[in-house]
Amino acid sequence: MARRAGGLRRLAGLLSALAGACAISVAGLRKSYGSTVAVDALDFEVGAGEVFGLLGPNGAGKTTTVEILEGYRRPDAGSARVLGLDPVREGKRLRPQIGVMLQAGGLYPGLRPLELLRLFASYYDDADSPDAMLDTVGLRDTIATPVRRLSGGQAQRLSLACALIGRPRVVFLDEPTAGMDPHARATTWELVRSLRDRGVTVLLTTHAMDEAETLCDRVAIINAGRLAALGSPQDLTRSAAVDEIVFVTDPGLDVDILAKALGLEEGMITETKSGEYVVRAAGTPARIADLACFLRDRDITMAAMQSGRRSLESVFLQITAESNATGATSGTEPVSG
Ligand SMILES: Nc1ncnc2c1ncn2[C@@H]1O[C@H](COP(=O)(O)OP(=O)(O)OP(=O)(O)O)[C@@H](O)[C@H]1O
Ligand SMILES: [Mg+2]
Repeated sequence: MARRAGGLRRLAGLLSALAGACAISVAGLRKSYGSTVAVDALDFEVGAGEVFGLLGPNGAGKTTTVEILEGYRRPDAGSARVLGLDPVREGKRLRPQIGVMLQAGGLYPGLRPLELLRLFASYYDDADSPDAMLDTVGLRDTIATPVRRLSGGQAQRLSLACALIGRPRVVFLDEPTAGMDPHARATTWELVRSLRDRGVTVLLTTHAMDEAETLCDRVAIINAGRLAALGSPQDLTRSAAVDEIVFVTDPGLDVDILAKALGLEEGMITETKSGEYVVRAAGTPARIADLACFLRDRDITMAAMQSGRRSLESVFLQITAESNATGATSGTEPVSG
């Protein structure tokens, strides 16, 4: 029965995604705190069923944007809509359909995890089982611990559970994995993937570029309150193509001999950190084959290789540095559409 209901929900999500339904839209959004401009003419849309990442340096305006969408803050100008509703004026209709994980706080310090989950479940018509949710996020062992005594990562897990308990259609996760141990992080990634499978729309913020790359269908990079880039992680990294091969293997390779074997001049290969090498030349099929043969002949295993595109982290660093310098917008999509 539960599997069938999940299938139907997934189908509903897919259908609305196919229909191009927009779950979240932000247009010309502005918000200042006194003389600090936190969000400055921001535009983006999130399709139904999409996992969308808001990336940006500290103070870029991510939390402010998310809190406006959650109905906690009023914008100074522009519009924010979630499921077609104004988060402040139509908050009463919207709240039962969204789940919120705040960046900090928001949990009642005196309650214990199960009590808190029961309280949150009572706000929704069709909530999940609080008891099962406790296991899902791995908090069974802290059942008797008041919220104020939970560790940082445990509080994050509980906060995530509270965001999901009501089976929301749209979920806001502000730095969901900050402070989590690797197990909790992996569980959170699994939960986000299962939300996507059920057609739930997820807006998350993160500083972990591997997280954005793994989970997000699209990301917006914002800097000083403005949109600096918008697109899928694949598009953003592909558009920043470079003539470079990065590979990881044993430390201490003789890079001059390797350069010679690849027909390159001395100095074109460097060991940038222990066991990580950068070849400053295009990763043509022939060159990659030569590199593999060189390592094979010495019985050396290659642990990882990337060619032709940079990591999202390096793209992020470049885009935010450029937009600091020029205030310009870059990206793979028109940013105003
Ligand atoms: N309540 C507030 N009062 C005054 N200024 C604020 C307030 N909240 C945020 N700001 C300022 O607004 C700007 C954007 O803050 P915001 O919290 O939205 O950034 P963020 O992108 O979420 O950063 P982080 O990655 O550190 O969480 C910052 O300059 C911050 O100092
Ligand atoms: Mg924040």
